[in-house]
Amino acid sequence: MQITQASPRMAMLASLLATSQLASAFYIPGVAPTSYKKDELVPLHVNTIKPLAGPDSMLHSVVSYDYYHPLFQFCQPEGGPRDVRESLGGILFGDRIKTSPFELKMKHNESCKALCEVKYNKQAAGFVNTGIKMGMSLDWLVDGLPAGQRAVDPFTGNDYYTPGFYMGYTDPVDSRPSFNNHYDIWIDYHEVGGNPNELRVVGALVTPYSRKYNAPVAESDCDRELPLLVLDETGDTTVRFSYSVYWTPSATPWATRADKYGNVYNPSIHWFSLISSAIIVVFLVLTVMSVLVRALKQDIARYNRLDQINLDDLSGTSALEDGVQEDSGWKLVHGDVFRTPSHPLLLSIFLGSGAQLFVMAGFSICFALLGFVSPSSRGSLGTIMILLYTILGFVGGYASSRVYKSLQGEKWKLNIVLTPLLVPSIVFATFFLLDLFLWAKQSSGAVPFTTMLVLILIWFIISVPLSFAGSWLGFRAPAIEPPVRTNQIPRQIPPPTTYLKPIPSVLMVGILPFGAIYVELYFILSSIWFSRIYYMFGFLFLCYGLMIMTCATVTILMVYFLLCAENYNWQWRSFFAAGASAGYVFLYSIIYWIGNLSLSTFTGSVVYFGYSILISFLFFILTGSIGYFTSWWFVQKIYKSIKID
Ligand SMILES: *[C@@H]1O[C@H](CO)[C@@H](O)[C@H](O)[C@H]1NC(C)=O
Repeated sequence: MQITQASPRMAMLASLLATSQLASAFYIPGVAPTSYKKDELVPLHVNTIKPLAGPDSMLHSVVSYDYYHPLFQFCQPEGGPRDVRESLGGILFGDRIKTSPFELKMKHNESCKALCEVKYNKQAAGFVNTGIKMGMSLDWLVDGLPAGQRAVDPFTGNDYYTPGFYMGYTDPVDSRPSFNNHYDIWIDYHEVGGNPNELRVVGALVTPYSRKYNAPVAESDCDRELPLLVLDETGDTTVRFSYSVYWTPSATPWATRADKYGNVYNPSIHWFSLISSAIIVVFLVLTVMSVLVRALKQDIARYNRLDQINLDDLSGTSALEDGVQEDSGWKLVHGDVFRTPSHPLLLSIFLGSGAQLFVMAGFSICFALLGFVSPSSRGSLGTIMILLYTILGFVGGYASSRVYKSLQGEKWKLNIVLTPLLVPSIVFATFFLLDLFLWAKQSSGAVPFTTMLVLILIWFIISVPLSFAGSWLGFRAPAIEPPVRTNQIPRQIPPPTTYLKPIPSVLMVGILPFGAIYVELYFILSSIWFSRIYYMFGFLFLCYGLMIMTCATVTILMVYFLLCAENYNWQWRSFFAAGASAGYVFLYSIIYWIGNLSLSTFTGSVVYFGYSILISFLFFILTGSIGYFTSWWFVQKIYKSIKID
């Protein structure tokens, strides 16, 4: 009864969503398995043509192209290729999935099937040959599973699948590029419960070949040796494309079919480096904490004793003892420590965005850890991150307004409006600028205009109102009162010692959180630039925890020293000090660039550094906020524990 009542409304809602682009934006592919009968068509979709590491294990380009780019001239399906539905995260991360002319029939072997015949002129030959030398690769999806190529890890000697396979091969001796025009497609299928009508694709491997056919392709050609096909850059070359399909039964169930792609790194090395850094971090944190707690206890006891003596003094019972000094250390700045810092508006906006990022990152890692993000469903992690960040606009607005109110800010309208706009606009503007470079290169990596529009729509329809709601609640909540009163006249700050000067202190603090994550950073960068599949979310979860711990501890320590040196400007300092780890992340990306990429084009470098700056900026906001909030908690705590007359 209830169902029939609800369903018209549900249907209306669904159709409403379906008509808007917003629904498809959050579509997550590859979550349910598809079963096929024998001889049923299994879709083979093509994704972009993108660079993989060359034989020297360096990446030579970061610009990818559409599969049907007019100069590549790959065979098209009848009636032209169609777009395949994709998630927003997939589009943003560069997936452009289209249909293909390949006909794969379940459990039906095929040998040397002719595809199309294409003439490559001088220009196309030059373009393709350059692509081959840059390590361009084709990226196919068989039933949503990336078609892999067997590869060997240069460090561990392990076998693994790289998603994608090379477009051609460059002879190391005479550097002649041969073009792959024949594909052996090996597909593993799994019979569910021994039912021959429930067959699932659980593995896809492509071995490409370069074969110079002189006549139209025949089935027997696959048994013959043929010379390599080299595209002539001085005249026309006719290329005949062909493929074979081999189906082999497999015991791998559908749920674990993507694991072969994950087996990229030697986990024992990984565990080793992670555990060693974890031990160092935990040891450090515990040492610092115990030293700090002892110092604080002594300070507080001393202050309270001094208080007692002063009271006795007032009542005239005894004179001040000679050995006891005046108040010193952090107590001296009690009348200034909660003074509103400069630019409270900017600080509160950054902190709001930082809180939003912090919660988003935590939830995303947990989702991934629980297996909601399968490596074979591309872009799903990206989609989840965008979705979470959008919804968590509420957290951002709330955090920003509460901080702003506690800082006695007065421009609360500006705070409400700018919190959901400032950081996203910076990110979006950078993104747009990089997109222009990619557009100029005719790269498929350029995000289409409609996607940008959808992104902006999502932002204004969902995130901004949520952020406003959060801000409203935050401003209605009572301000967090400081435990001590602020004096009218600011104290003079004594000149700092060298290591407490802004730049040295910030650099020293920032390196430690970076130390906690740098092991993982290599793998994250590899998954971004080398399109390796990242799957070690357990490691990432640990690293995230370690990073939070170090950020909190070292920033608190620095704030303690700062206050002891009678410098009460801890707010921005704590934000910058913890945020400085982003500077190291950027430095690391430069080192990574030197070690793993050799980009020949200006566009490539601009894109690489543009994205590195973007990632570092977000990381800055995230770690800076962790540093600020923990320092805030610390300062509140210590000034609450002393008596001030
Ligand atoms: C297809 O060919 C492969 C390799 O020759 C063979 O192992 C497999 O059994 C064949 N499959 C079918 C369904 O004929």
